[in-house]
Amino acid sequence: MMSSAMHAAWCTVPTRSTGLALPLGRVLPQAQRRCIRVVNVMSPSRQELVTAPRHSEQISRQADSAMITREAVQSLEADLDNGESVKALRRFNRLLSNLPAETWEPKLRKVMGELAYNLESFNPAFTAVLLKVQSTIGHSDYVARDLALKNLIQPLAGEYGMHNGQEQAKTHRELFSEFYRDLLKEPLEDVLAICPRPLASLQLFQRMMHDIMTGGQTSDPIDQACYAMGYNLAIEYLADYEKTWMLDSFRSLNQTVLQEQRRPLTEWLFLEVHAEGEAEHAAIGHAAVVGFVPAQKQEILRRAMMDHDRDFAVFYNALADMLQ
Ligand SMILES: [Fe+2]
Ligand SMILES: [Fe+2]
Repeated sequence: MMSSAMHAAWCTVPTRSTGLALPLGRVLPQAQRRCIRVVNVMSPSRQELVTAPRHSEQISRQADSAMITREAVQSLEADLDNGESVKALRRFNRLLSNLPAETWEPKLRKVMGELAYNLESFNPAFTAVLLKVQSTIGHSDYVARDLALKNLIQPLAGEYGMHNGQEQAKTHRELFSEFYRDLLKEPLEDVLAICPRPLASLQLFQRMMHDIMTGGQTSDPIDQACYAMGYNLAIEYLADYEKTWMLDSFRSLNQTVLQEQRRPLTEWLFLEVHAEGEAEHAAIGHAAVVGFVPAQKQEILRRAMMDHDRDFAVFYNALADMLQ
């Protein structure tokens, strides 16, 4: 493992303090961006495995059963760099950052209505992932299951403003609502009343829930949990691209159009917390997978990741069409 000094030299996680925009044309080295966080997330779990005496028997069984390696997971994730979703996200963000002054508002209102539903719809998807791992009770290792869930619950709790060791903050729904009102000068409730289930988001939600709840058409509880965790990896990995680029695109739009029209964005928190947080979520998903998924289940992970890549690309291409 590399020293932290070496990591720091090539990790370029954008932070609120620097606020550096990442150019859209560049493929982000996602695995590198989250390297420090992977180490941080992994450390307590490993320590816990070593220091929990009651679980020693399970631990040695766990060590013998050849879990998937971090390298194998990173290689699966690297396939997403060249996948359909990254192409669709690139297309969407080019359009978003170059929206014309005359038409940006109606086009973006429609997209924001979709995003209101879509972003919330990941919460039941995360809940379904947790359920599939919880449902391996009696089939998976007691400690491995517990540690995987301890990791997986954190991004879901974060959606409701909960972070370990901190006061409960605003929920992400509250932050989105503030962002929406600041951008479009109207309450989010208005668009929710007009269109509570926008089509593109509804279709993606239905696909995600169908895939996760059926474990990608598998029946064995472990296979279903592995599928769910692979699906979760793809969600978080792609969300890192999605949210980083979305912040950049709104910065551009703000500079070229919104400021000119004397209505600059003032509520950046929703975009900033997501641009910062998704790499950490991906690292948490990573830690959960390497402690739970047997190496022989690698193809199930790949299939789950490709399933989400395909459906997420359809969604973002639909959003891009709305901006065209
Ligand atoms: Fe969120
Ligand atoms: Fe996330």
